[in-house]
Amino acid sequence: MSNDLASGIATRGALARMTGKDIFARAYAYTLTDDARAMGMYPFFRPLDLNDGPEAVIEGRRVVMFGSNNYLGLTTHPKVREAAIQAVKDYGPSMTGSRLVNGSHRLHHVFEEKLAHFMKKEAALVTTTGYQVNLATISGLLQNKKSVAMIDKQCHASIYDGVRLAQAAGAQMVRFHHNNAADLDRRLEALQPDEGALVCTDGVFSTEGELADLKGMVAATKKHGARIFVDDAHGLGVLGEKGRGTADFLGVHDEVDLIGGTFSKSLASVGGWLVGDRKAIEYIKHNAASFMFAASCPPPQVAAAMAAFEIMQEEPWRMEKVRENARYMRDELRKMGFETGPTETAIVPIYVRQDLTTVAMWKALLEEHNVYVNPFIPPGVPPKSALLRTSYTATHEKSHLDRGLEAFRAVGKQFGIIS
Ligand SMILES: Cc1ncc(COP(=O)(O)O)c(C=O)c1O
Repeated sequence: MSNDLASGIATRGALARMTGKDIFARAYAYTLTDDARAMGMYPFFRPLDLNDGPEAVIEGRRVVMFGSNNYLGLTTHPKVREAAIQAVKDYGPSMTGSRLVNGSHRLHHVFEEKLAHFMKKEAALVTTTGYQVNLATISGLLQNKKSVAMIDKQCHASIYDGVRLAQAAGAQMVRFHHNNAADLDRRLEALQPDEGALVCTDGVFSTEGELADLKGMVAATKKHGARIFVDDAHGLGVLGEKGRGTADFLGVHDEVDLIGGTFSKSLASVGGWLVGDRKAIEYIKHNAASFMFAASCPPPQVAAAMAAFEIMQEEPWRMEKVRENARYMRDELRKMGFETGPTETAIVPIYVRQDLTTVAMWKALLEEHNVYVNPFIPPGVPPKSALLRTSYTATHEKSHLDRGLEAFRAVGKQFGIIS
């Protein structure tokens, strides 16, 4: 195997050039993952037998789980599970149709009302995934060459894919420097008078746990009469009053035009949500093909998310605890000498910056210490930014955290990342 697993993955461009007439040629020429498997260094698609919150079972091994987004620990909450069970009994596993026609269930509407009320916005939309929120919002709103998607360079893949769909309809993409409101301001300034922009950013950057400078971005957006959309997948339940999210935490909630997110993190389910101006949402839901022609979020998933959403508000200790756990880990890892970047959230990256070492550390943590984390290597992160992404939940006990710290210290020393 090449000594650089990640750059291998990044050779998609080179492989594309090698493709001949057979469209599968590229696939047949692709050996990287099989080579990594043969070396026991393939970290992806590992089947979990059980994921019960702070711990999980993977390939028969019980591990401490520092790789989930179950921030409030609600996947195991009896009320959440009961809600899903009851909904599957009452309504079945699927609506077998799209929201537009036969797939809207009463639960979608009930949850939309609750979401809009809690998020203090006019309207809400429940979708099938968080990914779909970004596809639909961006491609629904930006449909001609005068429309500009103004995106943070390091935003989530689903924002990029939403922009690609919008580009197919003629829209333009402009990327501003990561988390740099001054650069955003300059780029908005450079637009033609008849061009309109939708500024798109993650609220919490999903790999690094870094907060977006929403204050600066909102100011630049308003100054130029643009609109701003925040993907707050990792902010809901973790930041802001009652877990309202990043914009609330940073004091600019009212100024953000559209906020979207997922059920797959704090809300312990699968699905997506969008809140904002009623007319904007009305337009998106009648003009975004990626939403209109996809099956709706199944009732059991909506019911589970809605139960989690209620518990999130009723049990504020969960948000306090997830923050406290993450703060403890961040501080202790920094004291040990690890580079953790500017995170202030439930996500604490451990920068390794060397791709193969990152995967080797991931393997040592799992196999020698029974600790599960997520390795991120390019192209999932920028070059030289390989990291172990660790994330914390409200249900991690101190004993879990200390076991993790012991393992991180041992593996960090073993690989020369800390002294
Ligand atoms: C920032 C961000 N946006 C969107 C998504 C997609 O959400 P979902 O998993 O619900 O499709 C994710 C989840 O991976 C995410 O981290």
